[in-house]
Amino acid sequence: MKATLTIDKDHQIGNIDRRIYGSFIEHLGRAVYGGIYEPTNNNADECGFRRDVLDMVRELNVPIVRYPGGNFVSGYNWEDGIGDKSKRPRKMELAWLSVETNEVGVDEFQEWAKRVGSEVMMAVNLGTRGPDEARNLIEYCNSDTDTYYANLRRKNGFEKPFGFKLWCLGNEMDGDWQICHKTADEYGRVATEAAKVLKWVDPSIELVACGSSDPNMPTYGEWERTVLDHTYDYVDYLSLHCYYGNKAKNTPDFLARAEDMDKFIKNTAKICDEIKAKKNSDKTLMLSFDEWNVWYRTKDEEKTAQRWQIAPHLLEEKYTFEDALLVGCMLMTLQNNSDRVKVACLAQLVNVIAPIMTENDGGAWRQSIFYPYMYASLYGNGVALNTSCEVNSYKSSEGWDIPYLYTSSIYNSENDEIVVFAVNRSLDEKIELDIKLEGYELCSHIELYSSELDASNEMGNERIKPEERKVSRGEIALKEHSWNMLIFKR
Ligand code: AHR
Repeated sequence: MKATLTIDKDHQIGNIDRRIYGSFIEHLGRAVYGGIYEPTNNNADECGFRRDVLDMVRELNVPIVRYPGGNFVSGYNWEDGIGDKSKRPRKMELAWLSVETNEVGVDEFQEWAKRVGSEVMMAVNLGTRGPDEARNLIEYCNSDTDTYYANLRRKNGFEKPFGFKLWCLGNEMDGDWQICHKTADEYGRVATEAAKVLKWVDPSIELVACGSSDPNMPTYGEWERTVLDHTYDYVDYLSLHCYYGNKAKNTPDFLARAEDMDKFIKNTAKICDEIKAKKNSDKTLMLSFDEWNVWYRTKDEEKTAQRWQIAPHLLEEKYTFEDALLVGCMLMTLQNNSDRVKVACLAQLVNVIAPIMTENDGGAWRQSIFYPYMYASLYGNGVALNTSCEVNSYKSSEGWDIPYLYTSSIYNSENDEIVVFAVNRSLDEKIELDIKLEGYELCSHIELYSSELDASNEMGNERIKPEERKVSRGEIALKEHSWNMLIFKR
């Protein structure tokens, strides 16, 4: 089939905030222990961090990492994870029914984040705890005063404050699975009071209030309205979370989930603007899509797994090539909403629904979803463009018209180049793409393709990996069910 994409670099959506290429490390399964940290591994550095994982995270150029949860944060006592490791308590961790040794806490995580060149997006516990512990935590992390918690940090070996700039006010407080789940009014009140004390300790920070944990939550919409009624003046972002799956084994429908994500973002932005108008506010609230990914094969695993294990194998989703196509599309959705989405976190980063997998005391490998994420983070920088695309569509089972070609186009003024990301969602037809773009020529075409949608990578066998296609003048061919990156230069 043929498609025409018309690009004009003056038709701009918005500047891409690099933080949309963020990720997430939670104390869950083997994300921390056996993932980023494993002192017994041959490849561990002097802090116990796995060098192979450090290198792969650096390849991804991750700007910011959310920590320490997730559901975990709603039962977490941050003081358990600081200071002398031999004195740290072992605790029953109720979000994932595991044992938490607290060998890694904020002291270690900030060091790990420095080593990979990422900022930390720190979450506070608004489940079992509240504003008091949150203000102590931010004093510990960000303050240079001569006061108890800042001095405790110094005593633990960190003279300089960690300086975390972005903070989450709890996690998924709308879900009844959350430790100390709250109604929207209860959460709105506690989030407001926590926001006030956090910003009094450090006025330079930005805050994220919890939106819905999924667009299909029965409280979606009302939750946002009530929470924002309380918090609008005190926070900078509202969070969105969403995971998609293909249980029905319907690939066309699965690949259409990118449209669903787009709708979720646009509807949530409208709700924020409704409250903005109601409050006659001058502030436009931005969005933090701080959990997104494909996740369905290992959902609810913690309910059947053996309880009270240290670092059990949980949520170790084995990603297929088909998953990489949707992850590629979801990244484009984030780019195409760069006027409102300023932060986003691929959930998660290592071992737990992750692009990077490890063996205990062994090696590491890249899953299929590693690549669309890596290329978006490395090349998807600049201004997202509004383009027009003529191409055939198919019907999703909801009856939506889904164009076979899904794209995002980004103008990078520094390199004077235009980068186009494109997924051909047809399962059996290639697309001959005609790009109308004056003054620029195609100079690079990277393709991610597998003839088998269910193929996946394994330790020692990374068969799904991108290839550089030969560039020739004239039309561009995008293989059936393929992910592509095209770079145009003057
Ligand atoms: O990312 C896994 C879990 O998914 C997180 O802990 C939670 O916030 C969400 O439900």
